Amino acid sequence: MKFSKFYFGVDYYPEHWPEERWPEDVILMKAAGFNIVRLAEFAWAKMEPQDGQFDFDWLDRVIEILSNQDIQVVLGTPTASPPPWLMAKQKDLFRVDSQGNRLTYGNRREYCPNHPFYHQHSHQIASKMVEHYAGNKAVIGWQIDNELGSRCYCNICRDRFHKWLQKRYQDLDNLNKKWGTVFWSHIYTDWSQIPVPLKLPLPANTGYGQNPSLHLDYNRFMSDSYRTYQKLQIDAIRQYTSEQFITHNLMGFRYDELNYYDTVEDLDFVSWDNYWRTQWNMESELDPSSAALSADTMRGLKRQNFWVMEQQSGGGGWDTVAITPKPGQLRLWAYQTIAHGADAILFFRWRTCRTGTEQNWQGVLEHHGIPGRRYDEILQMGSELEKIGRVLLGAQNTPQVAIMQSYDTRFAFQIQPNNPRFDYKQHIQDIYRGFFRANIPVDIVSEKTSLDGYKLVFVPAMYILTEKMTRNLEQFAKGGGVVIFTPRTGVKDDFNTVVNKKLPGLVSQMAGVEVEEYISMPIDEDSEIQFALSDLESQFSASVWADVLKPTTAQTVAHFTKDYYTGQAAATINAFGDGKVIYLGTMGDDTYYEAIVRTLSGLADVHPLLETPIGVEVAERWKGDQRLLFLLNHTLQNQEIQLDGRYINLLDNKPIKDTITIPPLDLIVLVD
Ligand code: GLA
Ligand code: ZN
Repeated sequence: MKFSKFYFGVDYYPEHWPEERWPEDVILMKAAGFNIVRLAEFAWAKMEPQDGQFDFDWLDRVIEILSNQDIQVVLGTPTASPPPWLMAKQKDLFRVDSQGNRLTYGNRREYCPNHPFYHQHSHQIASKMVEHYAGNKAVIGWQIDNELGSRCYCNICRDRFHKWLQKRYQDLDNLNKKWGTVFWSHIYTDWSQIPVPLKLPLPANTGYGQNPSLHLDYNRFMSDSYRTYQKLQIDAIRQYTSEQFITHNLMGFRYDELNYYDTVEDLDFVSWDNYWRTQWNMESELDPSSAALSADTMRGLKRQNFWVMEQQSGGGGWDTVAITPKPGQLRLWAYQTIAHGADAILFFRWRTCRTGTEQNWQGVLEHHGIPGRRYDEILQMGSELEKIGRVLLGAQNTPQVAIMQSYDTRFAFQIQPNNPRFDYKQHIQDIYRGFFRANIPVDIVSEKTSLDGYKLVFVPAMYILTEKMTRNLEQFAKGGGVVIFTPRTGVKDDFNTVVNKKLPGLVSQMAGVEVEEYISMPIDEDSEIQFALSDLESQFSASVWADVLKPTTAQTVAHFTKDYYTGQAAATINAFGDGKVIYLGTMGDDTYYEAIVRTLSGLADVHPLLETPIGVEVAERWKGDQRLLFLLNHTLQNQEIQLDGRYINLLDNKPIKDTITIPPLDLIVLVD
């Protein structure tokens, strides 16, 4: 999708405010440099106050006020929050949660994604909206629903699941074989006997107790269900327009009830919602690598630039009033997403609402609607983007490193975390943070992505591993690439059953190593490893998992130095074709990953963009031959950075060389 300008704007809920206020809002938006507004995504009850009665007059009026100021519009379909009259029609429109409880009215995301009646009404409201707005020049695109997801375990879904399984397995014997249902005598003789994997209370620590194969398929089926539901709305929109774009607002790296690679297939481009610090993560250390990882993940979904449809505009809280972003942070966080591939930013929300669940979620304006320091900060950014937006637009991030992840593996670890301290997402995040601190850019790619063009591919804990994935990795290594594996790789096949091989299963040959014994470490017992590489001779504490390794063709580069496996191999390097395959047999802390990342990147001839103090992030985007270098100071101190050449400060066009001082929570964009 090609755009002619950098979009900068806000999510606006005019229906929350008296109509007399709208012109003033729009003037303030214009002054802030906004050229786009998202509307209507929670306004179903206003657009269809009663079954079959539609009212778009109010929306027409607000769109006209906006378009008179040259502000364009993205419309959201309102299906994330249906009106009471609709949900009162049939009791089973409500989702059943994983404990088997049917939801009731009063929140949002309560609908069953497979309910035919909900489908019908969703299709209808989307069709009516687009029929009305397809020809409206101010409306440039559509967002489907809001943050799709939330699994349902109702009887309608169960029925659909059976159909999904019939398509995948054709006959029951095949399913019984693939799932190994002989265990506990679960051999199905009719499709209708197959249950949904409810998470029912079980004796302590035994987990959910369902067959992991059934459970993985259910998670996949749920992801497919939302894709089908989204497609139904896309089809409704495409009946009337081929010009307006269609996107959806996803939830970054951490959300994983959907296979996002599938979710985005039917969309023109990816949008996502970027919240740095909210009531849900207010205790966590303010770590700039989290949002960077989300951005890199979202860019990797289609390997294209993205929109940020909701960018944090203040403290984010529902029941609590969450931590207030300090002066400079809103702008800094927004520029960070640009550094990682945003071609548009819309702040969530325009004005803090006075009623409803999100009274404590701060907008650009406070409840009272009088501009304050958050507005001023965003206005500053707006005037900067008026100057440099065109230069930024469409510039590409081109990392030499990829971290590979898969939602199948995520789903499988949701079912069986393996070790109480193991969290696949956290493991990826720990490795990512190593690269982040070294200022080495990373793409997050799927298990299906072609690896051409990368020098190093990190494959953390790829639990579900197929022949096809193995061939892809082998080909990459043979051609000269460096591949790195970590524990719990190659444990399972596509059906979530354990491979009939020594680990790491299918990739054992390319890694030149076998796992002699795998040890899930107790919470109170860590281990240690000692590296013996020329530029890495350090000792590290090792935790969570220990794979005691037996090299076949690989060379040992680290040993365990604690417990009964002292002296045994803990990490290996294998020459494979023109490349190298590394197996790391344990997990560690930040110092471990930072050291590993630096050493192994060196092996792949990948180097930091620049050396900077901790808390100063560096990222680059390329516009043809022109390089845009972003330096972002996330710390509360001035930071002096040693540059590696002459640059021009894109914001004021002044030349810079040798060193530059960046004030606290500030940033600079340099061009060669
Ligand atoms: C999400 C939603 C928004 C809003 C914010 C703040 O990202 O998309 O509608 O609810 O969270 O809670
Ligand atoms: Zn359902």
